[in-house]
Formats: sequence, structure tokens, C-alpha cells
Amino acid sequence: MFNFDFYNPTRIIFGKDRLKDIDKYVPHDAIVLITYGGGSAKKSGLLDKVKTMLGKRKIYEFGGIEPNPRFETLIKAADIVRSKNIDFILAVGGGSVIDGTKFISLASYYKGDAMDLLKFGFGRITGEIVKKVVPFGSVLTLPASGSEMNSGAVISSEHGKFPVRSDLTFPVFSVLDPTLTYTLPEIQVANGIIDAFVHTTEQYMTYPVDARIQDRFAEGILLTLIEIGKSAVTESDNYDVRANLVWSATLALNGLIGTGVPQDWTTHMIGHELTAMFGIDHGQTLAIIYPSLLTVRREQKRAKLLQYAERVWNINQGSEDEKIESAIIKTREFFESLGVKTRLSGFGIKADKIPDLVNQLESHGLTALSETQDITPEISRKILENAI
Ligand code: NZQ
Ligand code: ZN
Repeated sequence: MFNFDFYNPTRIIFGKDRLKDIDKYVPHDAIVLITYGGGSAKKSGLLDKVKTMLGKRKIYEFGGIEPNPRFETLIKAADIVRSKNIDFILAVGGGSVIDGTKFISLASYYKGDAMDLLKFGFGRITGEIVKKVVPFGSVLTLPASGSEMNSGAVISSEHGKFPVRSDLTFPVFSVLDPTLTYTLPEIQVANGIIDAFVHTTEQYMTYPVDARIQDRFAEGILLTLIEIGKSAVTESDNYDVRANLVWSATLALNGLIGTGVPQDWTTHMIGHELTAMFGIDHGQTLAIIYPSLLTVRREQKRAKLLQYAERVWNINQGSEDEKIESAIIKTREFFESLGVKTRLSGFGIKADKIPDLVNQLESHGLTALSETQDITPEISRKILENAI
């Protein structure tokens, strides 16, 4: 097990009828900006409920944060923060709204050019760089990204998606009420399950470092997602199933299972380029890339693939290669059982597009990926070709 720090100050407020707790954790004299997306929170009546819970506080609203939130949208909200002296932001939505709110929190009082905040890559933006941030909370409506309990964000600009990380952008609190997910379209639930699944494997499907508890935590999340996946998609108001999905997706990327272990993230980096170039939903890009990556990297991931085959898919028969092959097939079949396509051709993308995707990876400096930093653009090309 590698040395590690674990820090996560976010208060989780979980369950039915917990919205009223917002009143406890938003300062009573706060001037609040509510941020939301394209309208689902308004349509479901959630926005009105949230405003009611905020009582007599002065409230402003900023809607229109699109999926894969864009820099130019978020900068407009930062203007409102400054002009209205906002001192608390409440994000109501999925990962795009919460990520966007993290960027607004960082950019509003940043002295430099806010575009520079997209240039830190995986480096953390410290209090030296951003002297003042705006505290924020969230009301989660889509279990997927884990943004509700981590400090990371992914912001879109021009032809790319850029990670933004800072210990200053953990939500103060997040309300996780599974009933708020009942209005989700099936495809968004499926996206969420696959995102949480691949978040877990990015921190698990690497090589052994005798991190037994982290491995079992990760296997616990994978087993739970496989167990509830289908019913989570088809039974929109099954409270227990949605509750398990919500908490699994949060635990998959709040830093806990990633402590002291090697991490991959190649599937995500290639996936982001597919979203930036073709607008494919985040979760669906992962369903395309992950099975192909396992095939191309099976030797590098051999030990963990065998552990995964036995412990997650209960595959105990056959040779090692047969077990590995069967585990990869089961993974793809699981994604497809949720109604998601797992091949580029399923989105009408042909091999002639692969050179552009590889060029984009290179232009974003993503030339030494994976837990061993040896996935070159040439190997990324192979993974994409194998995903046709
Ligand atoms: O915008 P509205 O109208 O709210 O509609 C949204 C959006 O169209 C809709 N939706 C959300 N909750 C709903 C609902 N519709 C009906 N009922 C509800 N309860 O769903 C659509 C997708 O929402 P979005 O927030 O984009 O989805 P998700 O939560 O999957 O977030 C995706 C974003 O998270 C980033 C991705 O890159 C992407 O930009 N990620 C953030 C991460 C992090 N912070 O650690 C890690 C992830 O790997 C990921 O990169
Ligand atoms: Zn993800």
C-alpha cells in the first residue's frame, strides 16, 4: 500500500425528506445563488422546494448550466456572484451543475484570467493561487459523477474537457435524496451506473499493492452496481435500489477507494475526447472504451483481471486466459444490458475519425496514460481501433 493523505470535509445529508436540513447549513444571513441545469429541477418542482427551504434568505438564480459545463457559461455566473455579493452557492442538479458550481466558486474572486484555471491539469489549485472562494452546497439529482463528495470538476472549453482540482472546492454539504432521481430518463440512470462502475475500476483494475481493504471496498461497489443495475434503470421509483445506487456512486469517487493504490484513468481521458469531439454522454464514452482497454491491456492488468473475474463475476472455471476473456465479455454484456452501446460503430463513428481523436489526446498532453504512464498515443490508437 502506498503512503497517502485522505481529506474530505463534505457533510452528507442522506435520505428522504432531508431538504429542510439545508436551512441548518446555509448561513442565515447568506445571499444565495442557486445554480441549476437546463430545466429538469424546475420542471420537477425541486427548485421551488429548495427556495422554500431557504426561507427569508436573499436568493438569486442561475440556470442553463449545460451537460459538460462550458467555461463561457460559468463565467456569466461568476459576474453575478460579484455584482450581487453572493456569499453562498447552492447547486441543484447532476455532475455538470455541481462541477460548474465548483468552477464558479473558484473563478468569481480569482484575480487572474479565469481561463488560466483550466491549465492546472491534475495539479491542485491552492489558496496561494485563488485567495477567496465562495462556499457552496449541493442537492444531487443524478447519481454518477461523485462530484457531490469530491473536490474535482471537469470543465469544457473550445475542443476539450479540462480537469480542475482544488481542496478549496469540496461541497460544504450535499443532500442525497434518492427520490430526487425518480424523474431521470432511463439512459441517464444507465450513464450513471457505468460512470460509477468505471470510476471504481480506474482505482482498482491496475496492479496489486496489497491494498486488501481498498480492493474489497471497490469489489463491494462493483458487485452492488451489477446486482441493482437493471432494476435501477427499469424501476424508477424503487427507493432501496436507488438509495444503493446513489451511495455507491458517491463512494466510488470521494477519494476513499483511491487511497494508497495505483490509478489508471485512461478510459476517462479517451472518453473525454469522444465527448468533446462527438458530444457523446460521459457514461456512454466509458462503455465504449473500457472493454476495449481491458482487451488491449490484459497482460499489464493480468493479476487484477483474474481477481476481478473470480471475486466480481464468480468465474472459477477454465484457464487464466479463458477467465480473463470471460470477465471482459461479462463487463461488456453488463453495460449493454443497461441499454448502452459499447462500440464506436454504434454511434456511426468510423476508423477514419481515430487519427483526429489521437491528435486531440496529444494536443492535450495525454501521451503517457495509465497506472504505469506507458499508454502512448499509439496504444490509445489501438484501444480506439479495437472499439470500432
Ligand atoms: O440540465 P438538466 O435539465 O438538469 O438535465 C440533466 C442533463 O440533461 C438531466 N438530469 C439531471 N438530473 C435529473 C435530470 N433529468 C431528470 N431528472 C433528474 N433528476 O440529466 C442530464 C445529464 O446531467 P449531467 O449533470 O450532465 O450528468 P452527470 O451527473 O453524469 O454529470 C456529467 C458531468 O460530470 C463530469 C463529466 O465530465 C460531465 O461533465 N464528471 C465529473 C467528475 C467529478 N466531478 O469527479 C468525474 C466524472 O468522471 C465526470 O468526468
Ligand atoms: Zn466519470
